[in-house]
Amino acid sequence: MKNTVATVREAKGHEKLVMLTAYDYSVARIMDKAGVNALLVGDSLGMVMLGYPDTLSVTMDDMVRHCAAVARGAQKALVVCDMPYMSCHISPAETVRNAGRLVAEGHAQAVKLEGGADFVADIRALVRASIPVMGHLGLTPQSVNAFGGFKVQGKTKEDAQRLLDDARAVEAAGAFALTLECVPAPLAERITRELAIPVIGIGAGAACDGQVLVWQDMAGLGDRQVPRFVKGFGKLGECLFDAVSTYAREVRNGIFPGPDQCYPLPESLDEVIRQLK
Ligand code: KIV
Repeated sequence: MKNTVATVREAKGHEKLVMLTAYDYSVARIMDKAGVNALLVGDSLGMVMLGYPDTLSVTMDDMVRHCAAVARGAQKALVVCDMPYMSCHISPAETVRNAGRLVAEGHAQAVKLEGGADFVADIRALVRASIPVMGHLGLTPQSVNAFGGFKVQGKTKEDAQRLLDDARAVEAAGAFALTLECVPAPLAERITRELAIPVIGIGAGAACDGQVLVWQDMAGLGDRQVPRFVKGFGKLGECLFDAVSTYAREVRNGIFPGPDQCYPLPESLDEVIRQLK
């Protein structure tokens, strides 16, 4: 069954939602085949694909290109694309124009936007333009400088109240789902209970309606320090290292390519080759 914003919304209370980031065609195909509900073309691509220290340098062109690649690989998963830094901060009109590019050129089926009550006008404008919106609250990485680092959010009474109010505002503005990042589990549980739309957690405990992780963290690819909330479900980095090391050894020792990897010549042409000048 094809996942849509409607099926994602209807899953609340019945079925846990599975979301992973994806940034390219071949990985999207594998995840789609494995049955994830939604593929998030996250602006985390700036960090895990492009090597930036944060997400702030990611451009609209980066997102359009990667989203289109993911969309070509996704048959059943819902494709959600992040609105990068400064693409939704100027005015609702500019937000709609940029989101429209993600849909028309990147073939996203929904966009994700970081921020709460301050972004209600943008969310409303997107919904009016028939562009489904996933909200994103808690540790919103585009606010890393304002937060003073990648830190757990909602740890004081005031912050927790603000997060709950923001979640209500995002839902009331018409978002079909909410990503909640790096907040204490009891607060995430309260927000999940309070909202009628699904809450997809990352570092927000088990009570959320679904979970999302950056795929390289989930699969154990890369050597960056992963946050506490990540669980490694594979050792892709080690597998790739072993494969590359074996390949290099075989090339250097003349083992690869072997007879199986070479194209033979019809016997009748052997003599012709020998006689070439
Ligand atoms: O950009 C991203 O990958 C995200 C997830 C961490 C939720 O926003």
